[in-house]
Amino acid sequence: MGYRVSQQTKILIFDSGVGGLSVFKEIEAKLPALNYFYIFDNAAYPYGELEHETLTARVETLVCQYVEKLEIDLVVIACNTASTIVLPSLRARLSIPVVGVVPAIKPASNLANKAVGLIATPATVTREYTHDLIRDFSKTKPVELLGSTLLVDMAEEKLRGRELSQLELQQALEPMAGKIDVAVLGCTHFPLIKQEIQHVLGEHVLLVDSGEAIARRVQELLGNEGLSDDGKKGKREIFSTAPPYAEGALNTALQEWGFSPVQLEILDR
Ligand code: DGL
Repeated sequence: MGYRVSQQTKILIFDSGVGGLSVFKEIEAKLPALNYFYIFDNAAYPYGELEHETLTARVETLVCQYVEKLEIDLVVIACNTASTIVLPSLRARLSIPVVGVVPAIKPASNLANKAVGLIATPATVTREYTHDLIRDFSKTKPVELLGSTLLVDMAEEKLRGRELSQLELQQALEPMAGKIDVAVLGCTHFPLIKQEIQHVLGEHVLLVDSGEAIARRVQELLGNEGLSDDGKKGKREIFSTAPPYAEGALNTALQEWGFSPVQLEILDR
């Protein structure tokens, strides 16, 4: 059964940085009339290099506080690094639905003929959760792992309108070259630099991410009855936990995504 959904419905999208925008984009395409509150914990960025306990404590504290303060109806943890450890404890603390994003190993393995590449953060590629996914859903296809914070930084840079170094990207992806035919973008930042990754890996490599599946899950949980199709969009507000770098350039980009400028929101710890 779906949750009651109306144009007052508020969705919280959470990530360490701008990566969750790739998930927001997929959800918004299906449910444009809802109100979206995007929170990024840039004070602790990059999540892919945080200690397990620090990450869990931060995400739980921040998400629970925002949920209460903004009276949120559904949370999306738009971060693989966080979702692969924090979902059970977060769900236990909240009475609203919490949707997470984890690497799309299963669809990738079904699509692969040769081998799957998992490109994610250094933390995600070491998670037990990720290794369980591989064991359970890619029994017959080998999975090559690549953890990179550089690629996360590149997505942050690109969103601020900066040029990426093709050479650096090529060097970072070198371990995958020629070995795989499907690559999982296992970090929500990576769909933001999908074209660049595709260019380096080659057109013969299929890139797979979890964005659309997350959007379907959100839609399923909310149900889409009662939503107007009069083209009206709901609110889009964005909050950070520290002053973002290149804030002007970031706000210009965010405006194109429909967001008002970033609001600094340091919550009680
Ligand atoms: N976007 C995040 C993910 O999906 C994390 C990036 C980071 O802060 O390291 O894993």
